[in-house]
Parts: sequence; structure tokens; C-alpha cells
Amino acid sequence: MSEHGKISMTKVDYNKDRKKAKNPLKIMDLSLRDGHQSLFATRGRTEDMIPVAEMMDEVGFWATETWGGATFDTMHRFLNEDPWERIRTLKRYFKKTPFSMLLRGQNLVGYRNYADDVARAFVERACENGMDIFRTFDALNDFRNFDTVVPVIKEFGKHFQGCICYSMTEPRLGGDVYNLDYYVNKAKDLEKMGADSICIKDMAGLLAPYDAYEVIKAIKEAVSPPIHLHSHFTSGLAPMTHLKAAEAGVDIIDTCMAPYAYRTSHPAVEPLVMTLLGTNRDTGFDVNHLVKIDEKLEKEVMPKYRHFLAENKMAITDINVLLHQTPGGMLSNLINQLKEMDALDRIDEVYAELPRVRKELGQVPLVTPTSQIVGIQTVNNVLFDEGDERYKMITAQVKDLCYGLYGKTTIPVDPDIQKKVLKGYDRGEEPITCRPAEILEPELEQAKADVKDLAVDIDDEIIYALYPVTGKKFLKWKYGKEEPPPEVRARTLEEALKEQELVAKAKSGQLVEKAQKDVPQKGESLREFNVFVDNEYFDVGVEEIGGSPVISYVQPSMAPPAAMPVAPAAVPHAAPVAVPAPPPAPEPSKPAEPAAPAAGGDVKGTALTAPMPGMIVNYEKKVGDTVEEGETVVILEAMKMENALPAPASGTVKAINFSSGDSVAKNDVLCVIG
Ligand code: CO
Repeated sequence: MSEHGKISMTKVDYNKDRKKAKNPLKIMDLSLRDGHQSLFATRGRTEDMIPVAEMMDEVGFWATETWGGATFDTMHRFLNEDPWERIRTLKRYFKKTPFSMLLRGQNLVGYRNYADDVARAFVERACENGMDIFRTFDALNDFRNFDTVVPVIKEFGKHFQGCICYSMTEPRLGGDVYNLDYYVNKAKDLEKMGADSICIKDMAGLLAPYDAYEVIKAIKEAVSPPIHLHSHFTSGLAPMTHLKAAEAGVDIIDTCMAPYAYRTSHPAVEPLVMTLLGTNRDTGFDVNHLVKIDEKLEKEVMPKYRHFLAENKMAITDINVLLHQTPGGMLSNLINQLKEMDALDRIDEVYAELPRVRKELGQVPLVTPTSQIVGIQTVNNVLFDEGDERYKMITAQVKDLCYGLYGKTTIPVDPDIQKKVLKGYDRGEEPITCRPAEILEPELEQAKADVKDLAVDIDDEIIYALYPVTGKKFLKWKYGKEEPPPEVRARTLEEALKEQELVAKAKSGQLVEKAQKDVPQKGESLREFNVFVDNEYFDVGVEEIGGSPVISYVQPSMAPPAAMPVAPAAVPHAAPVAVPAPPPAPEPSKPAEPAAPAAGGDVKGTALTAPMPGMIVNYEKKVGDTVEEGETVVILEAMKMENALPAPASGTVKAINFSSGDSVAKNDVLCVIG
């Protein structure tokens, strides 16, 4: 019988006649850290990494990134997971592929410079728990902030990867700050420090393909360690940038498995493998094996995280990052912060103020934590400045930056701004020029003493040393001293699928009328998610009653849809007030001290209200203390920045309505002065 006309169902064999490449491009997978950090607000759980871990170990990745960055914070704060345990658990499944972590230099996995003793202990424990490669960066590219951690990495025989944060002030590489010389000189500095490899860390996806070619060629000629490129997809440039980087001779590139790729994450590995197939940079990876991993992820893992993706947007690229040079995470933080303050209409003012604030604060690269520092200060300037007076509400972190506590800024801080910011600063009004940690007193022994009744080992103590408020809370959950709240519990696949079904029903309008008939009281285990239909937005609450979830309310809302916050530290998910009246909107948090009556009660005086939603770090005053107008009363953490809130009037503190660790909504009365 003739074969003519018969459709062949045979798969193309991509491995047929495939020769080993002369200079194979090495790949590091980021799915298990930056991938879910970028797409799912770092909410990936260890249990969702295990199903693919052994398969991923077979791919042949140069390394897999599993830890660091925001994982440490998010795990203990939002997931009720011990961050250290993740390394040990995943190590049992990854037997060959080295682990890489993102280390924020002296900031470790936090948002400030820690003392040397904490930095040393942290890196030691990361080594001992199984970390192999330390991708180390400093937000200011001030490599003095590597001085403490690098000798520990070396002492344990681990891999020190030094990063150069990629930044620009012009539309393309060049100008008088971030030009080719800048990057080549930074690479030489890292080689001198003993870097085992050098990473160009393009956290915002700003690196254009031809600039990448130029930078990588120049750096490869100037230094001998392997060159690694880390870029984000955000603007859409990264896949092209990867290709030009490969042509320029880059040694290692970062990608994600397809379900974790694109948007603010990274290019996917699969198209790159196919692109390089048969060339002298062929990765040698088996695409069929990669597809099997993707299928497993799609089926068993992704349904639990789908709700993090903004469904109201078709485009997966965001060219704003090139126009405003703001990293994706920072952009969504800014939008979220403005939204929380009912000021989303002022986003254009924020965009205009941002380059000005950045320049005044030393033209720093925008990466955690400088992206937050510059971003939040910009929003504060737009919202709180009056008349000609700028920098009216200055965050503690901006004061630290101007003092030199983060290191040396790329260009000097504007002297007038610096003077204003440092007026009355508790460390002194004269900025420092030494390595920042030199002026920090040891912190570890005090931390150990503080949690001696709670911490069982050094790993617990470090959790507390890095995150005193949320770390302590986590240790209480860990050792059964406090019941973890329902929102930190894991979603099951069944729950996720049921929710998806309900969302589909809500979208088709089937649930709206029913919900308006009878609205039950919202309970503690209420789970909320956003549904967008055309231009309409629904806030849907799902709660499990007697085993099966029901829609407790569905309401149209006027609020414009906003991007998912990257890590809205302690910002309560404040529900818009329910339309079908009966149940009162829940308070985002309860006053913890019943001793002091809530404001609006019988306490007379001037109320200090929260100017923004956030978490109480601590009160500097107690009931009965006298305060002067303008004196700091309470420290409020919002979007990871600490804001010192001044007394609105002189008098005596009459009531304090919250305590350390409480979440507060905008306009909550924090204390009353009378
Ligand atoms: Co990244």
C-alpha cells in the first residue's frame, strides 16, 4: 500500500545525529526561587517543588536556584515554613545539581546591613545546610559589603559568584555613570576578590541585546572567571539578549521552566534549547524530558498558584520598565502602595518624581532594597510634600542611605537633601565613608538572649536575628506556642480546582444573584481573590463551611484592577466594604491591648492615625508618657520601609491601640494624645 496521503504521527527525533557542542552554554534554572518570586510573590511551597525535583535533577543544569532573595522572608512570614528546612528537604531530591542562592551581600536575605557576627553565622549555616553557590550582590555595587561573607564562603570551599547589578541612566548602555568602563572595572574588582564566576544581574530586564553583546565581550576580554547572565523577561528583551549573549561567549544563562517563565520572570529554557540545537553552543538538554517536567508542573502545581496572575492583562510584556527603568517588583509595589492609599491616579507624578529622587539619592542601581527605598520615598514625596518643601515624610531607610549605612552611592548624594535628611538622625548628622558594617555593634548574642526560651538551635536564632517581629511569631507557630492563622496554611490542589470552578461560575454571572439574597457573616478562614470581567472587577470571598466551599459574597467594585503585590509585607488584604450591607466589613486586625480603649470611645485627645496600611514595628512611647509634637511615637513598617510617625500634638499618651506585629489599615487610630 502506498504511503501517499497518510499522516505521519511519528515525533521528530531532535536528538538524532546531535553532536556534543564545542562550547555548550550552561544553564541555571530559577523556577524554584526567582521564578515563583517574580510570578507568584515568592509564595511557592516546598511541597510543590518536590514533585518535579528528581526530574529536574536529571536535566543537566549547571545549578538550580532554590533559596535566598525573598524566600527566607516569605516562608517564615506567610507560609509558616522553616526556610532552613527547605534546603535540607530539596537536597534529598537533588543529588547531582548544585544549589545556588541569592545573597544580598551584608543584607543577607533581609533589607538592611546586618552586623558582621550575624552575617558570618548566616553564611556558615547556609553552607552547612547544603548551599553550594552564593550569588552575592550589593544594591549599590559597593563590594566592601562582600568583605565579611566572602571569606566564609571560601572557608567552606563553596562557589563565590560576584554580581554586578546592571543599571542605566540613559535609554541604552552609556552616559557618564553606567557605561562600559563602569562594568569592566566592576568585573575586575570582583576577579580581584576571588570571584569563582561573575554575574551580570539585570534585575529589571533593561539589558538590550546589542548592549549585552558589547558588555559581555568586553568583560570576557578583561577577566578570566566564567560570565553568567541573569535577566528578567519583563520588557520582552531578554530572549534576544540571551541569544546575543550566547554569541558574545557568555558561559552561563538563567532560565525558568516554561510554566514559571515570562512576564516579570525569565525566558523559558525550552525555546533556548531548541534555538541552540546543533550549534557550537548547544546545551545538550533533552527537550522531551523538559516537556515532561512542564506537564507535571501544569497539572499538579500551577493550579494552586494561578490566582497570582493578573487576569485583566493580555500582554505579557511591560515596556514601562524601559521607559521608567523600574524593576517589575518595584513597579507593582508602587502601584499597590498607591492603590492602598486611594491615590492610583497619581502614578504619573510618581513616574516624574522617581528619576529626580534617584539622582538626589546618589543615582543608585534600583534593586532590592534600593528599589524599595527610592520607590517608597518617591511615593511619600508625591503624597505628603507640601508647597516647596520636599522630603516631608522621610523613611528610616532613606536616612540610613544618606548616612552611608548601605555603602557608597554611585554618585554623591545631593548635599542639601543629605543635610535635611540627616537632621536629628540618631547615629549622627555627619555621614560615614567606611565599610558600613564597621560601625555596627555585634547583634547575635543579644538576639540569642532575646529568644532563649523559644529558639532550639542556631538556625532558629538566626531567623529571629534577621526578622525579630515576624521571626518570633514564626518560632511560636513552629513550637506550638501559638496557633498559626488560617491564611498561612497551604492550599490543596482540590481547593484550588474548586476555586477555579467557582471563579468560572462567578465570571459567567451565575453566582451574583444568589449571593445578594443572603450574605452570611464572613468567617476567619475566608479566602479572597480578584476576578476581572472586561472592565468590571469582582472581589470574591470563598470560605469552607462544613467541608465544601461556598461563595460568601461577590460584589462589583469600582476599584481599578492593580498588579499583584510582590511582597506586601504585612499589608492586610483589606476587602472593599461589602455592598449588600448586612455584615460589617471585617477589621483588618484587632487591637491587641484591651487595656487601652479604642479611639472613638471615651478617650479624648488628638488621634495619631496610620497614613498608610502597614505593620506596627514598635511604639517608642507608652500610655502615660509625655510627648512633644513631632516626637516619634510609633514606627510603622509599610512596603518593607520603616516610617517614624511623629506625635500630632504635645501632651500625654492616653491610649495605645495596637502592639508590635499588628497589621493596621490606613486611618486606623494608632494612639491618642491628650
Ligand atoms: Co532576578
